[in-house]
Amino acid sequence: MKFLLISGSLRKDSYNTRLVNHVAKQWLNGYEYEIADISKLPIYVEDTDPLPDTVRKLKEQIKSADIIIFSTPEYNWSTSSALKNAIDWASRPPGDSAWKGKIAIIMSASTGMLGGARAQYHLRQILSSVDVILVTKPEIFVSFAQDKFQGDELKDELANKLIKNAIDNAIKLYRIHYKEA
Ligand SMILES: Cc1cc2nc3c(=O)[nH]c(=O)nc-3n(C[C@H](O)[C@H](O)[C@H](O)COP(=O)(O)O)c2cc1C
Repeated sequence: MKFLLISGSLRKDSYNTRLVNHVAKQWLNGYEYEIADISKLPIYVEDTDPLPDTVRKLKEQIKSADIIIFSTPEYNWSTSSALKNAIDWASRPPGDSAWKGKIAIIMSASTGMLGGARAQYHLRQILSSVDVILVTKPEIFVSFAQDKFQGDELKDELANKLIKNAIDNAIKLYRIHYKEA
């Protein structure tokens, strides 16, 4: 079972990137995983040919992963343009989307009281359009993120419990879809 983690924030001290690092370190022990870097992707232009190396690498990482874990910031009630850009790139060219049939978990961290809930619902809609199979429950929102981290470590007992639960559900969903023992 291989995981790919993607933070939607390019900010140096990003809480979402910390959350991704935390999940990898704390909850993916014993599993293979990679953390994607979407910061070097150009802005999507449909005419681009051939695909940039950064895009090719991202697509390979997605294709070789069984389960993808996203953490999105909330920008003006939606996901980040950086993450939407990455999703658009990896969905093309037509007939060669890297996303189709991937199992995914969505998390979010924000400094607000809703913890990025509105960004998650937009992201859920976008990922549905590229045939990603989403874990619906539990939902993982890290609100008031500025109070919840020590370095990369998430000090939130409930959120940690929900993360563990979501990973277990993603593995179950993978097995239902792909019949792996
Ligand atoms: C352009 C912009 C728009 C934002 N809009 C929202 C918002 O709609 N809801 C919210 O909870 N936080 C909002 N925030 C605050 C972010 O939650 C906060 O900057 C957070 O730290 C971003 O995630 P990061 O730490 O992973 O970069 C916004 C921040 C920026 C820069």
